Amino acid sequence: ELCKGFNGLEKVLLRESRGSSAEVYLYGGHVTSWKNDHGEELLFLSNKAIFKPPKAIRGGIPLCFPQFGGLGTLDQHGFARNRFWTIDDDPPPFPTNTLSKAFVDLILKPTEEDTKIWPHSFEFRLRIALGPGGDLMLTSRIRNTNSEGKPFSFTFAYHTYFSVSDISEVRVEGLETLDYLDNLQNKERFTEQGDALTFESEVDKIYLSTPTKIAIIDHEKKRTFVVRKDGLPDAVVWNPWDKKAKAMADFGDDEYKHMLCVEAAAIEKPITLKPGEEWKGRLELSAVPSSYRSGQ
Ligand code: BG6
Repeated sequence: ELCKGFNGLEKVLLRESRGSSAEVYLYGGHVTSWKNDHGEELLFLSNKAIFKPPKAIRGGIPLCFPQFGGLGTLDQHGFARNRFWTIDDDPPPFPTNTLSKAFVDLILKPTEEDTKIWPHSFEFRLRIALGPGGDLMLTSRIRNTNSEGKPFSFTFAYHTYFSVSDISEVRVEGLETLDYLDNLQNKERFTEQGDALTFESEVDKIYLSTPTKIAIIDHEKKRTFVVRKDGLPDAVVWNPWDKKAKAMADFGDDEYKHMLCVEAAAIEKPITLKPGEEWKGRLELSAVPSSYRSGQ
């Protein structure tokens, strides 16, 4: 179902028979909402988000491609998040997700302008699907369509903003004891200590070679988000905290208390695609009552 969202931008509504739902803007191929079957919003979207190109939407799931972050020749986080995607009416068969009826296929191909800043031909296919249990599944398939035999490399992230009741009460499990690059300390490499992560100040870290499953435990809401990922070895954890929040025009001063970004990513080792080759990166999000977990 295609309809008009903020500022007249087109969005697709996905609804699963048990009541969960999601919204996807064609602008950015950007998921802005994911609700469980009680109608509770699970993603953070800033009240100050600007739905106006070329600004990327603040919240939801921006796609960082073909460059994560600001290192490199492109603007911060690449251009996929501020291009208009189209609906892919003729997607190639997907091996998984066949149980889901609530899905949409989008495609991004570079314009002539894009090839001036990133001289490669590609097709980026994105399937966004709701599972029968309300899980949100994103599958990205990126293909090198250059026939002249030139490989290209890219970095990537699903820049997911989770909605949390109080950042000071949140724990992240699955990243303890791992190495990370600290964006707040010149990308220097450190090793995380042994306990689950908790938050009391700004954090901007790229965890390396992470497990395929990460849990975000929201004590107050008694909710646990489970992130499952495939093809995405790294995980970025970001919260701007108060000072950086104030410096962002499209982010409320206190909103940092109610969000946490945990981003399934491929950053440390860029992905290289030879002509005709395809890369696949999958993200699966579920939200379960914390009581389902032992000891919570
Ligand atoms: C995170 C980065 O992924 O995104 C941070 O690690 C950055 O360094 C943040 O500040 C937000 O980026 P942007 O471009 O959406 O403001």
